[in-house]
Amino acid sequence: MNILVTGGAGYIGSHTAKALAQSGYRPVVIDDLSTGHAHNVKWGPLVRASLSDTAFVRTVLQECQIEAVIHFAGSALVGESARQPLSYFQNNVGGTLSLLQAMLDAGIKDIVFSSTCATYGSPARVPITEGQPQMPLNPYGDSKLSIERVIEWMGVAGQLRWVALRYFNAAGADPEGELGEEHEHETHLIPLAIGAALKQRESLQIFGTDYPTPDGTAIRDYVHVTDLASAHVSALQYLSRGGENLALNLGTGKGASVLEVLEMVQLVGRQRVPATAVPRRAGDPPILVGDPQRARRILHWEPSHSALGAIVECAWRWHSRSQAQVHINLVTQS
Ligand SMILES: NC(=O)c1ccc[n+]([C@@H]2O[C@H](COP(=O)([O-])OP(=O)(O)OC[C@H]3O[C@@H](n4cnc5c(N)ncnc54)[C@H](O)[C@@H]3O)[C@@H](O)[C@H]2O)c1
Repeated sequence: MNILVTGGAGYIGSHTAKALAQSGYRPVVIDDLSTGHAHNVKWGPLVRASLSDTAFVRTVLQECQIEAVIHFAGSALVGESARQPLSYFQNNVGGTLSLLQAMLDAGIKDIVFSSTCATYGSPARVPITEGQPQMPLNPYGDSKLSIERVIEWMGVAGQLRWVALRYFNAAGADPEGELGEEHEHETHLIPLAIGAALKQRESLQIFGTDYPTPDGTAIRDYVHVTDLASAHVSALQYLSRGGENLALNLGTGKGASVLEVLEMVQLVGRQRVPATAVPRRAGDPPILVGDPQRARRILHWEPSHSALGAIVECAWRWHSRSQAQVHINLVTQS
């Protein structure tokens, strides 16, 4: 079964392409490589193109005999979205509308969509359940919510069958060491902390130490990227069994504070993480933790790799290996 993986050269998409191949699917990746890397595409063909080219996407869907779509492609930096709202709506909403039109033209109905906890904004209660109000605080979250609305209405019209997966904080790396997080503009805590410990990056900035949390730093729900990948395969299988359209949280139900993450990085890496406290960022809620009960019940999903220590170990192995590789390359070149 051929599955189109949009954004499959990126972080979560590439791990999912691997999980698909391991489950007997053939992932066909479409990616414009704006933030992804061709070397992440190892389990099927890479078509280098933007989703905005509807006619081309339709041709790919038809010629590659695609049966379902997993849709990761998009722009995903909250801060950047606040500075460039138009480009976020253009790429995320515009790109998705183009993809959906191509799917409609090609008669493909099943889609698993990458949504986000950023659609909830600042929740009144944690852990967050899927029925809680979605009130995004930034253009990124709002663009994802807009996409959820479009696919929901297309579902009502009988044109789509969909699962929207609202991830909390994706983290970690492939335990077999084949893939990891490689964002040129990194904003995620774990790679930033590891980079600071390995002296690849500047001292870590801790945004806010006066939150109403036990240690004063913000709490987030970290989910291993391998667990996210397996949820996508399960969601695809759920749709092919005729499951109903729905949104599911992919969180663990437990959070870790910035300081707890930092301590875990120091413990795993046996290196100090140089860090500086700076004021809170606007729009950062104190606690974001997702209730995974619905995903457990419906997809039988277990985030079995998502203990904080396991996430940091995989990430540390990946980033320190990358450092060793850079060193080898430099030595070979000189
Ligand atoms: N990383 C997280 O913690 C997280 C949390 C919640 C949701 N998400 C969502 O998951 C998805 C994947 O996130 P990621 O961290 O892997 O990001 P990523 O930047 O590594 O991957 C996104 C991929 O999409 C490609 N892309 C972007 N716009 C495109 C377009 N118009 N046409 C074709 N390809 C395009 C990029 O080149 C990249 O390979 C995103 O939609 C993001 O919003 C991520």
